[in-house]
Amino acid sequence: MAGTAPVTNEGWSSRTAFVLAAVGAAVGLGNLWRFPTLAGENGGAAFVLVYIACVIFIGLPLVLSEVLIGRAGRKDAVESVVVVAEKSNVSPRWATLGWVELLAAFLIMTTYSVVAGWVIYYAYNFGGDLLANLFAGNIFSGAFASDTPDQIQARMPNLFAQPGLMIALHALFIVLTVGVVARGVQAGIEKAAMILMPAFFILLVAITIYSGLTGDFSKASSFLFTPDFSKLSASVINDALGQALFSMSLGSAALMTYGAYVSSETKLAPTATMIAFADTGVALIAGLMIFPIVFAAGLDPASGPTLMFQSLPIAFHDMPGGSIVGFFFFVLVFFAALTSSISLVEAPTAWLINSKGWSRLQSAIVMGLTIFLVGVLGALSFNVLSDVRPLAFWSLMEDQDIFNSLDGLVGKLLLPIAAFLTAIFVGWKADRKLIEAETGLEGGMFIFWRFLVSWVGPIAVGLILIFGLFPSLLG
Ligand code: TRP
Repeated sequence: MAGTAPVTNEGWSSRTAFVLAAVGAAVGLGNLWRFPTLAGENGGAAFVLVYIACVIFIGLPLVLSEVLIGRAGRKDAVESVVVVAEKSNVSPRWATLGWVELLAAFLIMTTYSVVAGWVIYYAYNFGGDLLANLFAGNIFSGAFASDTPDQIQARMPNLFAQPGLMIALHALFIVLTVGVVARGVQAGIEKAAMILMPAFFILLVAITIYSGLTGDFSKASSFLFTPDFSKLSASVINDALGQALFSMSLGSAALMTYGAYVSSETKLAPTATMIAFADTGVALIAGLMIFPIVFAAGLDPASGPTLMFQSLPIAFHDMPGGSIVGFFFFVLVFFAALTSSISLVEAPTAWLINSKGWSRLQSAIVMGLTIFLVGVLGALSFNVLSDVRPLAFWSLMEDQDIFNSLDGLVGKLLLPIAAFLTAIFVGWKADRKLIEAETGLEGGMFIFWRFLVSWVGPIAVGLILIFGLFPSLLG
């Protein structure tokens, strides 16, 4: 079938390469920044428990679904869905699923890269502090020892007050990402994952151990793991499911795109399970890394999105060795963000290569530039454009600035729609024999997985879509 031949003959060099790249895509700011923020705001363990249930019963089955669409189609996110639709004798209009996912990847990257720019800035500042302490022979000092807590907190608004610097950092992050994507699957994406992911894990374990030894580990672990079910509410459940989708990179073309490069010998079910578990494991470990430090410094776990950029730096200030830990912490976050952004850019780049016939280099640059331009508006919404309300016509978003509108569009609309469509497509529309063969699951396992995809997924995701769009229903 000439029409369904892979357009690129790129592929992972091994299963390990795929797993590392896919875990790299999944593990990112979602695990290190968003998960602790939401767990903190939603009272800890009750949220964590619901989150884990969402991962197992909704997220994991969908991870397998997306990877298998990619491998069965062997093209970009849009064309892979079309190939599976054709083989299943259903309408090629299912391509819509691929389009929604690509749009989600694009929009996520516009805001992701702005936040990753802040991470670069913090890593740079902590690095400078560490060097100064090194030369002063004071290496185990806390971070920014001569600053007051107010001055440390002020670093974030100070950054926001410099639009030029924010745009430059955002540009730098995109250039780094495009530089990797342009080199291709094996020489770029895979190589970056093979270096950055092991480095990430070493840093994660080292900082978590240090944080456990010096921080308030028992308070952190009871906060994260001893549930107080009175804290459970529809909105907590809603947040947990939305976070599970985001964290596993569902609904945003990454898993389909990376799935297309997987060899036909690889067993997909155990591989998808590894990806989902690794992602969840990292989120939990990130909680155990961050909260002991937060509690030891007597800070509020529910401080929201500024937890990483204002609370933690204060904690690093108070902590023995905080200068070292602070620097390596932001390096770790940077590595995690980079392996995710690589996948966010690869998905729409693969589509350009496939559909326009452009070279990989040209596709990656054009995509990077487009993302950069939209992202600039997001960066400027922290200062110059802070009064602009792009979605003012939509009551749900009328108060949101550009950055939060981009973010809300993805989280409230695109990811749940994409996950819903994926579940319906794989659970109900796609050819059962084709799907069964791709999963490699047998007997009861296949039936159970298919039940989760056909019933549990659409109902649960449908509910978060409705509650996300009509929050007043949650009371
Ligand atoms: N999972 C990523 C994180 O936790 C964010 C993300 C969502 C993503 N969708 C994606 C990353 C698609 C890569 C590709 O930070």
